[in-house]
Amino acid sequence: MNNQPSSTVACIGMGVIGCGWAAHFLGQGYGVQAWDPAPGGEQRLQEFLDLAWPAMEQLGLAAGADRSRVTFCATTEEAVSGALLVQENAPERLELKQGLLAELDQLCDPEVIIASSTSGYLISDMTTQCGHAPERVVVGHPFNPVYLLPLVEVVAGPQTSSAAMDRAVKIYESTGKTVMRLDKEVEGFVSDRLQEAMWREALHMVANGEATVEQLDLAITAGPGLRWALMGPMLTFHLAGGEGGMAHMLDHFGPSLQSPWTRLVAPELTTELRDAVVEGCLDEAAGRTVADLVEERDRGLVKILQALREGD
Ligand SMILES: NC(=O)c1ccc[n+]([C@@H]2O[C@H](COP(=O)([O-])OP(=O)(O)OC[C@H]3O[C@@H](n4cnc5c(N)ncnc54)[C@H](O)[C@@H]3O)[C@@H](O)[C@H]2O)c1
Repeated sequence: MNNQPSSTVACIGMGVIGCGWAAHFLGQGYGVQAWDPAPGGEQRLQEFLDLAWPAMEQLGLAAGADRSRVTFCATTEEAVSGALLVQENAPERLELKQGLLAELDQLCDPEVIIASSTSGYLISDMTTQCGHAPERVVVGHPFNPVYLLPLVEVVAGPQTSSAAMDRAVKIYESTGKTVMRLDKEVEGFVSDRLQEAMWREALHMVANGEATVEQLDLAITAGPGLRWALMGPMLTFHLAGGEGGMAHMLDHFGPSLQSPWTRLVAPELTTELRDAVVEGCLDEAAGRTVADLVEERDRGLVKILQALREGD
């Protein structure tokens, strides 16, 4: 845990993920300097903190945590000034990330870690215009809600130094994050590749009229999703093989991996498919706003995280 009053993190781009990171760092006793080009960012962050802070309090804040220790800055230069980590959370558009990371690279001393929250771009593609110290630019990919889910994937590019990776890992771990360090880059990293595989299958089933949005959600929340909070897909299947474990699973089900269970090619995102998925979600939400659902989700996540801590 970090209790040094001088520790400051910069958050650049203050949407869902930027605000999530800000909440996380504030809850860990850091100061945050934020920047966003859209008007009203400060107000949106305060509203975000109103929703997130109660769940964070329930899980336990670090000593010195203070939600007022955030400064909304007028320029990126002001935001990165004195920061030990710059967390970039701008929209997922490659050209935008390339320009923004180049600007941040110019502004920051070489020892400052610049981390992109990108969901899948490679560092080697994003840093093509970084001319100052590209070896300290890494991916720091979080999961929503950032202030509750521990995982961050820290990914290097071919130019990233191992010293910068060490420093990035250390900073995130000191804020209580669970770090997955990937020294070899891969599009989508590890967790999003798994999520995307499932998402593609789900879209096929909606497109083919095989399952509704609500059935797809129930298929996970009442089934494998409950196990996944405790064990990932590998250990889960190890247990599914009985006494024979994973060896039995692979020998038993291996041949059927060739069967057409898995489609894995993205379906065409037609207007009909888009509308069916959107309408399905609104039906399932049954009048609950996104804020209502965030509150509901956070209440549940806090209980799951507390149960896991007790289990330890
Ligand atoms: N939403 C998720 O679940 C999720 C999870 C992990 C990672 N990410 C990644 O986080 C990043 C941000 O995604 P998001 O969901 O918060 O998006 P968002 O649309 O909620 O927020 C993006 C913010 O960036 C601001 N912005 C626009 N142009 C900018 C610029 N030039 N420089 C800086 N900021 C700019 C916008 O005003 C907005 O506030 C993306 O790279 C995304 O892939 C998202």
